[in-house]
Amino acid sequence: MYTTIQAALTSIFSLLASALWQAMERLGRGGVTYAIVGSLSPIKWFTPIQELPVELLHHIFLLACVPCQRHSRPLECMRARCEGGGTSSLVLGRVCRDWRNVAWGLPDLWQRLDIIVTKTDHEDGFSRKVQLIKEWIQRAQGRLLTISVQPPGKTYGGHSPHPIFDCLALHSMQWKDLYLHTPDDCIQILNSAARGRVPCLETLYVERDRGARRSKPPLDFIADAPSLQVLDYSEYHLPRAGTRNSWPRLVSLAADEGFGSIEALQLSCPNLQYLRFRDSEGNALSFPRTHFSRLKSLVIKKKFWPVKAFKAPALESFAILDPPPDEFSFRDLRDLMDVSGCNLQAFGILLRTAYEVESLQNLFLRMENITNLYIGSYKATDYHSLVRIIPRMLDPGVSEDDHRGILLPKLEVLQYCTFDPIRSVHMVNMIKNRWHGVDGLKGTGIAKLRWVRFRKWKEEILVERLKEEIEQGLRVTYDLSYEDDLF
Ligand SMILES: *[C@@H]1O[C@H](CO)[C@@H](O)[C@H](O)[C@H]1NC(C)=O
Repeated sequence: MYTTIQAALTSIFSLLASALWQAMERLGRGGVTYAIVGSLSPIKWFTPIQELPVELLHHIFLLACVPCQRHSRPLECMRARCEGGGTSSLVLGRVCRDWRNVAWGLPDLWQRLDIIVTKTDHEDGFSRKVQLIKEWIQRAQGRLLTISVQPPGKTYGGHSPHPIFDCLALHSMQWKDLYLHTPDDCIQILNSAARGRVPCLETLYVERDRGARRSKPPLDFIADAPSLQVLDYSEYHLPRAGTRNSWPRLVSLAADEGFGSIEALQLSCPNLQYLRFRDSEGNALSFPRTHFSRLKSLVIKKKFWPVKAFKAPALESFAILDPPPDEFSFRDLRDLMDVSGCNLQAFGILLRTAYEVESLQNLFLRMENITNLYIGSYKATDYHSLVRIIPRMLDPGVSEDDHRGILLPKLEVLQYCTFDPIRSVHMVNMIKNRWHGVDGLKGTGIAKLRWVRFRKWKEEILVERLKEEIEQGLRVTYDLSYEDDLF
């Protein structure tokens, strides 16, 4: 018991110490900071803390409970064991009565609620957890809420946390950001209790529980969500096109199927900037192409048809990942570029078939402004193209004599994710030439390659041969995986 308390206190001290630094720095009293932080040793900690004015204590508590900025989702925070946010407000309240009074009276501390549903919660019928949630929300005094609900592992294992969703649904007018892992009965609760009652909802991440595998239910509770900005759903359908109002503020959508047609999607979210199609079946091809005037980033995974359905003149970043081999064609990729007239800065392609190198080269000729390129391959026997031909194609020292000029002259970041490690001299030469420049081409505006990334290997294969360049500042890393988000 003693060690637990000790550990809790120590973590509060470190939180407080960093919070204090920030607080005092903001107040411009650097000299005092040293005195206070220096006195935060477990032995004599409370004397100076208790003498702090309540306003300063407020400030410190708020800083100590600031949510982590490094992760976009609370679940990632929990996995990375980030401090801050989450339960710090409760921990602060446990230290002493004075602190509890301060913490309880500060609604800003209670705006974020991370709920992990445990087996114990299920065993006592959720009554304690629901009570805690009620009190927590009460302390937020009507502030907007960021809420996450997750199972302890990957699934609830058949134990639906529906009483928690019943309770949360009563407060849907306060929802701002939701990160949910949901069995189907909980989505039904939201659909019946919260529909038309989510005026402030800005972010929704929703993942369906693995236990549920009947037909995908619609997310009807967001049919009318005028503030929605970010939507990321998998294994669900959007509300049917005829029944949903538009989401004029929606800028980022990671979509499964179940959005209706591409035209319907465009009507629902005319201001989309980031669109990611996940792995799923379905084909919602539209003719003519649908015009997404603000779309900057498009990622298409395990499908190919959307390539033929879009016109996106503002597109800056585009990736096609593992398209079905029988549908894929370079010609359609070129058509998308040509019809859109876009000026791409980042491009990614991952194939499980052999590369048609000539077609890839023709495509690159239309992408003169690319600074970031990803090339991926699942195919082990495509070694010759990946190790020899493509690196030579990208080598300004080799393509010097080509009348079409240097391919991708602005390339700064090259990501190369292949099944086998790349050890070829062609790759080394290309990297060296793009780093040093090539005699005769100096001053022609070829960018310096800054960073080359390869797939994770135990040993870093090219590092020895690029020692000189690395010393001069080139980054060569072996940190890519097939699951990474590219751009
Ligand atoms: C590359 O950028 C230049 C200058 O911004 C622009 O004029 C040109 O059209 C761009 N090229 C492509 C293929 O978009």
